[in-house]
Amino acid sequence: MRFRFFLFALLGAYVLIQAALAFYLRSAGVSGTGIGAFLVLALSMPVYLNLSFMKNWARPIWLMPIFFSYYFFSAVGVLTLFLLRAGVGIHRLLNPVSGPQTLSNALQIDTVLGVWSFFVLFALRNRILGPRIMEVPIVLPGLSRDLEGFRILQVSDVHVGLFESDRTLRRLRAAIEKVPVDLLVFTGDMIDRRLDEMDRFLAFFGNLKGKLGVFAVMGNHEHWVDGPGVAAKLSGAGWPLLENTSVSIAVGERTVHVVGLTDPAAQERGESGPSPDKAFSRVSYVPGDAVIVLSHHPSLWKRLSDMPAQLTLSGHTHGGQIGFPFQRWNLSSLFYDYDVGLFRRMSDSGIQYLYVNPGTGYFGVPIRFGVRSEITLFILKGA
Ligand SMILES: [Fe+2]
Repeated sequence: MRFRFFLFALLGAYVLIQAALAFYLRSAGVSGTGIGAFLVLALSMPVYLNLSFMKNWARPIWLMPIFFSYYFFSAVGVLTLFLLRAGVGIHRLLNPVSGPQTLSNALQIDTVLGVWSFFVLFALRNRILGPRIMEVPIVLPGLSRDLEGFRILQVSDVHVGLFESDRTLRRLRAAIEKVPVDLLVFTGDMIDRRLDEMDRFLAFFGNLKGKLGVFAVMGNHEHWVDGPGVAAKLSGAGWPLLENTSVSIAVGERTVHVVGLTDPAAQERGESGPSPDKAFSRVSYVPGDAVIVLSHHPSLWKRLSDMPAQLTLSGHTHGGQIGFPFQRWNLSSLFYDYDVGLFRRMSDSGIQYLYVNPGTGYFGVPIRFGVRSEITLFILKGA
């Protein structure tokens, strides 16, 4: 419901923005025929995309970045013109005789281009800097001494596909190798839209090793592409895939339980969906142990309050990809309760944490604006 409302609001805003642009072009002297052609072109894109969703047509994937980039930058352009004209209006009110009375077209175009350039550079910042390594201490009261300082590195939403160059993937691998860890986990959306992307993913990451192992769960993209096909490729590479199942790893006198939940997208393909009961059935938790849950979709955390799920690692939201500094607001917060970062709650089995990883890759638009790519190192600590 919230998502549908968001889509309607998005469409409404798009129409208003195009109307404002047409109005500006008219006032700048563009002919009626030119304006007509502009409007037909600008409005045909969302009409085509909406029809394609309704009729389930195949959509060329390269249309998405073009559409969303056009949307984003026309919105920036219209907002800049509005602020520029409002500024001149206020200036004229305060200084009725002196100062500029009108704005030249050249000044308006220069300002829009200047603001655009700033936004493009800011959006490319993430590409230039590469993924950051985020360190998150997790305090678990009663944790055994044996597990004090246990290190887990989470990598999520790599989306190997159209938007990930070899250079980006090499740099991601180098960042992962820089961090000494006990466990390395991949929490889904390793690939974007085709099964052969899994070969490329494994070529870059398939031979990584955590001290005690590498574990993975699939995300919605793997299920959309071909869940069983991806699972076969991962097992061929010797990676344990934890779909509604768990493994127990002995550390000293204690055990680290790694539990994986199947993503809800499996149900869209007629396969069985997430089952916390099944996933936890082999977990024999004793106080002092650590339980790490891998769940691509963060909303599954709601179904874990009765389980000894101390730390749940999710992804999926990409932190919205577009957000304002410090991510107090981001696009995904409009339709996800757990959008990005660390959440905690008390349950019968004690304190429970959820970390929603912003991931490293891209979906839809190849930009991240105010939301950095990240790999996350969790360090377990007793109280
Ligand atoms: Fe994703």
